[in-house]
Amino acid sequence: MKKPCVVLGVTGSIAAYRAADIARRLVKAGCEVHCILTKSAQELITERTMETMSGQPCITDMFAPPKQWEVEHIELAQRADVFLVAPATANFVGKMAAGIADDMLTTTVLATKAPVLVALAMNTNMYENPVTQRNIAYLRSIGVRFLEPIEGTLATGAVGKGHIPETDDIVKAALQAIAEKNAPRDLEGLRVVVTAGPTREPIDPVRYLTNRSSGKMGYAIARAAERRGADVTLISGPTTLEAPAGVHIQNILTTQELLDILLPAASQADIVIQAAAPADYRAETVAAQKIKKQDGEALSLRLVENPDVARAVGEQKREGQVLVGFAAETEDALANAQRKLKKKNLDFIVANDVTRPGAGFDVDTNIAAFVDEAGVKELPLMPKDELADRILDKALALLKAKG
Ligand code: PMT
Repeated sequence: MKKPCVVLGVTGSIAAYRAADIARRLVKAGCEVHCILTKSAQELITERTMETMSGQPCITDMFAPPKQWEVEHIELAQRADVFLVAPATANFVGKMAAGIADDMLTTTVLATKAPVLVALAMNTNMYENPVTQRNIAYLRSIGVRFLEPIEGTLATGAVGKGHIPETDDIVKAALQAIAEKNAPRDLEGLRVVVTAGPTREPIDPVRYLTNRSSGKMGYAIARAAERRGADVTLISGPTTLEAPAGVHIQNILTTQELLDILLPAASQADIVIQAAAPADYRAETVAAQKIKKQDGEALSLRLVENPDVARAVGEQKREGQVLVGFAAETEDALANAQRKLKKKNLDFIVANDVTRPGAGFDVDTNIAAFVDEAGVKELPLMPKDELADRILDKALALLKAKG
């Protein structure tokens, strides 16, 4: 079987020495690794080191006689399953954002269609500079993935954000990108609607009621569905997350807005997955002006019930459609999920006990159980990205079973 190919670009950050270990770890994980060193990187790490660690000839010069292929930058760009740049300097990010191709690395990255993963390492001020931030934001918007620098002691001795991410995280992200690229596109031709995040129910012009949902679970599902070829609409409450590339995003604030947007979208969908945490209650009246503090007096707020969005979607369920809900519980998770399954006319529920460490709100992992008419299937702790795929696997199997 062909080994997955990683092109590893190394730029002139003092963290270039870490590229040797990254290459070694990727080779150990079964990858074929081809390294490209910029001129500055060669001041910090040698070609010989990278060749020894990767077991492949290393490319350092655009115009040197080709070592393996006739047109090396094009061949490498095409062979790559993932294009990893680690460490990546502000200079490299700037050139990439501007489309400059003046050396082997920038030329090859411009010619690749593989997923590009950039592990940043630079001085804190350079990282925070609006020019760098603009370049990163632009590249993100066109699908380049970034591993953010971490806090640490920088080359100057100062402590700040700018340190290259942990080797483990870089290797994991590269392997994940390869797995995603090679994953089947088994949702091609299907319309998937996903809800994510909290809602905000206003109290007055400066205050609102909300909850702890970060949107991570729903965004992971939307990302996975898009990668598997679905036409994805993500209806999102307010979060700080980047909209996944290739997904239609609709932003909402309140539970009523979620209902208004989701009902028509769901009527067109093959699969609807509701990971959002809509507020069950809202203020009966929203004050037109900021509510003033009444010294010594308690303040009562009268709440009225919001619509049950999932129930409304369940009431208009089409034949052959698959509806998936979540249940965020703090006690009797499975019994409560079973009740919600029927009430909302769902095909299955993803129940999570949000009090368990590593589960629920604002973490990258979850511990869930699938609850359907046939019973309960408990799943172990896993990344939300992996749970997203498990949910989609089950939804797809049900959709096929319904014909
Ligand atoms: O966003 P993260 O930080 O990643 O956290 C993930 C999560 C904990 C929010 C997610 O895993 C989760 O459990 N989402 C459902 C939260 C919730 O509202 O649970 P619930 O048990 O109150 O609601 C049951 C189902 O009805 C859910 O599918 C919910 O979207 C839906 N609902 C709830 C209330 C309401 N008024 N209308 C609804 O449609």
